This record gives sequence, C-alpha cells and structure tokens, in this order.
Amino acid sequence: MKNFKRYLVTAALPYANGPLHIGHLAGVYIPADIYVRYLRLKKQDVLYICGSDEHGVPITLRARKEGTTPQQVVDQYHSIIEKSFQEFGISFDIYSRTSKPVHHQTASEFFKTIHEKNGFIEKTSEQYYDSEANQFLADRYIIGTCPRCANENAYGDQCEKCGTSLSPTELINPRSAISGTAPILKETSHWYLPLDEWEPFLKKWILEEHKEWKPNVYGQCKSWLDAGLLPRAVSRDLDWGVPVPLANAGSKVLYVWFDAPIGYISATKELTPDWEKYWKSEDTRLIHFIGKDNIVFHCIVFPAMLKAEGSYILPDNVPANEFLNLENEKISTSRNWAVWLHEYLADFPQRQDVLRYTLTSIAPETSDNDFTWKNFQEKNNNELVAMLGNFINRVVVLTNKYYNGNTPELGIPDAKDLEVINTLEQFKTNVEKLIEEFHFRDAQREAMNIARLGNKYLAETEPWRIFKENPEKVATILNICIQITANLSIILEPFLPFTVEKIRKILNIGTFEWNAIGSHTLVPTGHKIDAAPELLFSKIEDAEIEKQIEKLQLSKMSNAPIVPQFPPVKENIAYTDFEKLDIRIGTILEAQKVPKADKLLQFLVDSGVDKRTIVSGLALHYTPEQMVGKKVTFIANLEPRKIKGIESHGMILTAESPDGKLALLAPESEIQNGSLVK
Ligand code: 2FM
Ligand code: ZN
Repeated sequence: MKNFKRYLVTAALPYANGPLHIGHLAGVYIPADIYVRYLRLKKQDVLYICGSDEHGVPITLRARKEGTTPQQVVDQYHSIIEKSFQEFGISFDIYSRTSKPVHHQTASEFFKTIHEKNGFIEKTSEQYYDSEANQFLADRYIIGTCPRCANENAYGDQCEKCGTSLSPTELINPRSAISGTAPILKETSHWYLPLDEWEPFLKKWILEEHKEWKPNVYGQCKSWLDAGLLPRAVSRDLDWGVPVPLANAGSKVLYVWFDAPIGYISATKELTPDWEKYWKSEDTRLIHFIGKDNIVFHCIVFPAMLKAEGSYILPDNVPANEFLNLENEKISTSRNWAVWLHEYLADFPQRQDVLRYTLTSIAPETSDNDFTWKNFQEKNNNELVAMLGNFINRVVVLTNKYYNGNTPELGIPDAKDLEVINTLEQFKTNVEKLIEEFHFRDAQREAMNIARLGNKYLAETEPWRIFKENPEKVATILNICIQITANLSIILEPFLPFTVEKIRKILNIGTFEWNAIGSHTLVPTGHKIDAAPELLFSKIEDAEIEKQIEKLQLSKMSNAPIVPQFPPVKENIAYTDFEKLDIRIGTILEAQKVPKADKLLQFLVDSGVDKRTIVSGLALHYTPEQMVGKKVTFIANLEPRKIKGIESHGMILTAESPDGKLALLAPESEIQNGSLVK
C-alpha cells in the first residue's frame, strides 16, 4: 500500500427522517469509529466526517404525511440522531447537515464545474406526472407493482422487498404517492451524468487497481460494470433540495444522491480551513464506511462525479458491510422491528459499551448477521462481566488488600511471568493487522484475549493462596496484572471507549499511545490505584432480556395482519330449499332511527311490487341519511316479525367479516326494483 500522510474517514450520512437503530451502528458507525480511534491512538492525522442527509423524497413524503414542512422534519431528526451518536461515543470530528448554506454552495459549485466542462448531457424524456397534484413524480413519489417479485408497493427507484433498483417506467400499474391516481407521462428535461463514458476508467480503477477491496464490495461493483453503465439523471423535478444552479433550471433540484456525498466535502470545509489538504492531495487516504445498499453510489457514481469535477481525490477503500437482522428478521422501521438507540439507552442506562461490544462481535462484515437479545445477554455476562470485569476487579481488590493500593514491585520474574510479559507485544501486532484489514470482529476478539490471558495467569498462579508463604512472588504477579490492565486500557479504547475511561480512573493513569501496547512498565512501582472503584460491568438478568423480547413481540402483534377467523361452512341444503327464498332488489325510500334501540334502523323500501317496512340492525354502520336512495338486496318472503313494536316485512342482506366490518349487497349494475336474485 502507498504511504499516506493523512486519513479522511467518512461514514454514510444518515437520512434525517427517523431515529437510529442498532443496524446503523453495527453496519457503519461503530466500524468507522473503531478505525478512527485506532488511527488517533497511532497519532495519525485523521478526520472523521459525517452529517445528516436532509434532502430526498422520503423526507418530503414524511412532511406531507405529518402535515408539516420538510425543514421541520429534518430539524427534529437531525438533533435526535446527533444526540444518539454522541451518547454512543461515535467520535466524529464534525456532524454536519446538508441543509446548511455551506453545503448548498459546495454542491452548486460542484455541479457548475462539471457543467462548464460539458460533463453532463441534457436530455428530455417522458416522466410520470400527477395531474391532480400538478407535480412530477420523482423516485418514491411513484409506487407500483415490482416487475421482478410482484410486490405491489415497490417504489419508482427501488423495490424494498427484493432489493432490485428500478426506474419508474418499469413499475406495473403505477400510482401517485400523493393522490393515489394513475399518473400520466409528460415531457421534462434533466441533466445526466454519462456513466457510460466513465466505464473504461471505472473498470480499470476498481477491477484492476482495487482488487484488495472486500469481496462483497468488489463483487457488487463488478456486476454493475459487467452489466454496462448508463447515463444517470442528477436532477429532479422537486421543490426540496439544492436548486440546480443554472439560469434555465426552473424549479429543479439536484438529485439527493448527487448532493449527499458532496456533503462529505462541505462538512470538511465547515470543519477546517485546511479542507483542501484532505480532499485534494494524493497523500490523503480517503475511506468511505457505508452499508451495502450504498455501494453503487460510493464506488461508481460518486467517483465518476469526482473525476468529472476533476480536482478531488478518489476513495482508496470502501469497506461496506452487509445488513444486520434482528431476532432472525429484517430490521424494519415501518414495522417497528428494530432496537432504537434512544430506547436502548433508556432501558440500559450507562451500558453503551455492552451494545458496542455485542454489535462489533456480530458485525455483518462478510454476510448478513443476526442480533438476538439472548446473545447480547451472553456477551455481557460471559465475556464482559466474567472475563474482563472479573479480571480487573480481582487485580484491584488484591492490590488494595495486600499492598494498600500501591503498585507492588516486579521483582524477579520466572519463566511463566516472562512468557506473559513477552506475549503482550504480540497482541499489538495482531490487532493492528486485523483493524487495518477492516476485520473489526476478529480485532476485538484478539484485544479481549489480553483479558483472557490475565485471567488464566491469575488462575494458574493463585496469588491469594501463596501470599503468606511467598509475598515477593505475589508482588511480581500483581505488578504484571496491573501492567496487563494498563495494556487493556489502550488496546480496548477503539472498541470500548467508556470502559477504558473507567479503567484509567481505576488505575489512576492517563492515556498512552497505541505503540505503548506490549510494555510491562506502564505503571511504575509504588503508583497508587483507586481504593474503592466501581464495577466495570454488571450481570444482565433474564427478566431484563425477557422484557425486551416481549416488547418486540408486542410490536409484531400490533403490525401483524389479522388472520380472519371465518366460521365453518354450514351443512349442505337441497336446491329446492334455496328456491324457497324470495330474494329481490329494492331501493330505500325513507330511513329513520328506531327510538330506544341503538342498533336498529327502520326503512321504507320500494320492492318493485309494493312499498314495505323493514327493520334492520344497521345503525352502527350507516346513518339514515346515508341509506336513503341506496339499492339493497333483501329477502321478501320472510315471515313478518315485530321488532320493538314495528312490523318488519323482510330482511336486508349484508356481508360481514370476522373483524366486524359490514357491507351492503347491492347490484353491480343498474337494475329494476323487484328483480329476483337467484
Ligand atoms: O442510505 C442512506 O442512509 C443515505 N442517506 C446515505 C448517504 S451517504 C452519502 F452519500 F451521503
Ligand atoms: Zn421486487
């Protein structure tokens, strides 16, 4: 690999139209955070950039649904999201947002530069238009049936069920998300980035020069490139976004996927006047952390934009992750099948690191993976409490008990002690290699192996058993254990930043550089440690886990479609029995409520042969006014019956569903009163 002088690390800008869940953390923000924290410990020059993605159709749709403005929607979610990131220790250097003027200006200039270089094609095409709402239907404003999987609610840009990217005209039976009506096709002109012209460059750059990219990323790029690239529209007919900065652009805005990645640049600009050093020098290593649904935009579209603009560097790597599922099902915002970060923290206050640890241990690095509450409990109880917490606690308790909290002297280490001391260095090399290859799960496991080593060393040397007969030996053991703990405070920092802060407090030490890992002289003899430290972790009981599982089940129940419970079909009857019924069509002439009967309505019905009174239990479903003039189907030869003192001459027919819905049976087309139903 090239020798880079600095790093620019970006994490996908989350859409500001909903709160964050565990899938966000596991897929993008924790891996990026581990990487950046590691680089900082190595004293590298690094910037970690993120912000809210505040444009695009889902945001305008949400605003429309909630009867508010897009700006209000993004204001609300931007602060919720920013707070969650802070609470989970995601250590961005800046968390910006794309509705800021600096972003609008940067994105406009970017577009203008490409335009001046003739880097776009202007093309007129027919696009869907809602003539009731007087609006073109961009992306998610158009809904229809997916041509691949028959999902009836596929969007104009993507089917969320089968994951296929679509163009609006591929949808079967398209309808407008605004009015629900069928759209018409109308001419409109847009600017397109001719990706086909960049194809030879992209093929060489990715397929030949970046064979080291993760197989899932490389594979997805290869299949796009093999299929052949087409020009992509970079503008939309919409009133929310960065306006197309040209005099003849009318009310068009930049497509959200054109402006969002430029958000990385504008956020850097906002952060430092030195931003060009990061974005325009080949000495910078640019790395995009993203989820798998963003691969094409970061590996193909954005690099083509950067090349077309001409003054920026390209990403050196794009370590995209796959998706995290929850209890074996896809995380879904609309079905509320998610663990929301703000809810997690309300239920498990101060336990950010338990979630960080679990999510890293199951990170979907090579394939989709599953979060289960049971596994979360096991990770906490068996690894964080029983291994890491237990080791450090024993070291502290014994040092306080035998040495009044003063770090004892190393003395003369024997072969076993030396073996432990000499192993420490190896962890640094291993973890370093794993982090640099973006294998964060394995890196965390290897870092935790230091705690495993410490526990094993304590179990084998049993200082509590030999203190009386051999206090010098115990001094050596505890000195080594304190050095191990200090090593943990460095190597775990990228993974468990909150815990490491507590460990430093317990040992009463400051921060060390990454390169100090392996040293067995981090804490000097005589150094006083904390006398009564708090426990690092505590057990999570079954009841707490059951509560979470129940909460999920509840959200499942409230979203589950009601399975109809129809009564079984009745016994067969002879046709002659059916013939006995005289069923006819009639029209309601008059309708009124029956006094002192909540459910009953009294009708005067034109039966074609007479005008008759019928009493019926429809008052909970229809008002008398709604019924007047309606065609109904009724039984004409039912024996007259007195209901609440009124003689009823027949029965109006309705269909009733198991959940109590009721519908009148009316003839499908105009037909005379008195017509027989057979
Ligand atoms: O998929 C998403 O959540 C997008 N908002 C990511 C944008 S990343 C970048 F390009 F800004
Ligand atoms: Zn589909």
